[in-house]
Amino acid sequence: MPSFMSRRTVQGAGLALPPPQRDAAFPLARCIAERRSVRGFRDRQIGEGALGQLLWAAQGITGTGGERAVPSAGALYPLELHVLCARVGAIAPGVYRYRPDRHELVLVSPGDHRDALGRAALAQDWIATAAAVVCVAAVFERTTVKYGNRGRGYVYMEAGLAAESLMLQAVARGLATTMVGAFDDDNVARVLHLAAEETPLCLVPVGWP
Ligand SMILES: Cc1cc2nc3c(=O)[nH]c(=O)nc-3n(C[C@H](O)[C@H](O)[C@H](O)COP(=O)(O)O)c2cc1C
Repeated sequence: MPSFMSRRTVQGAGLALPPPQRDAAFPLARCIAERRSVRGFRDRQIGEGALGQLLWAAQGITGTGGERAVPSAGALYPLELHVLCARVGAIAPGVYRYRPDRHELVLVSPGDHRDALGRAALAQDWIATAAAVVCVAAVFERTTVKYGNRGRGYVYMEAGLAAESLMLQAVARGLATTMVGAFDDDNVARVLHLAAEETPLCLVPVGWP
């Protein structure tokens, strides 16, 4: 087995993603015009750079003070991105957590769990054709500790912002996505090994249209 493969399967070790492109020229209006929900993808892998770019667009660090790619109420950053990688470059299939501060993935659980995730999404079996599935999850307390119950709405708004940014960035890379909100929270949390304080808010399967 080549050394990069073993490096990419070490549990708990950070897996650096290629640096995000901050100046790629692709018209935003075209991304908006061409974005469409796609439910079923070609049997083709996506690149590590492409996945990294999508995660950066959703939650990457863009400011010198740790500010991120999408707004956050009170800069409290309640969102956590989890990624089910199935066919992503040399990355071994598994569930990973995205670390924005290091722009890296951390392996949480090895294996290809797309079928289980599709079942958890109320039998949306087409999810199993995705090269990767990003889950936007949240720790509500990070925001409600300051804003009380109103903060719960802020967290949902932020999940929408992150998902839209990711989906528009996908279009710029020739990739397709769908926003998925129909799922059983507990089952998704189990498949993706979410922490007890995390709630899954949406899934975004990604692949080649
Ligand atoms: C909050 C939310 C939840 C959604 N959940 C699902 C879903 O579970 N499954 C699905 O196939 N599409 C889902 N969609 C996608 C919509 O069906 C889709 O956006 C709509 O049909 C319009 O098509 P378009 O995205 O191609 O413009 C969801 C969209 C939103 C905004």
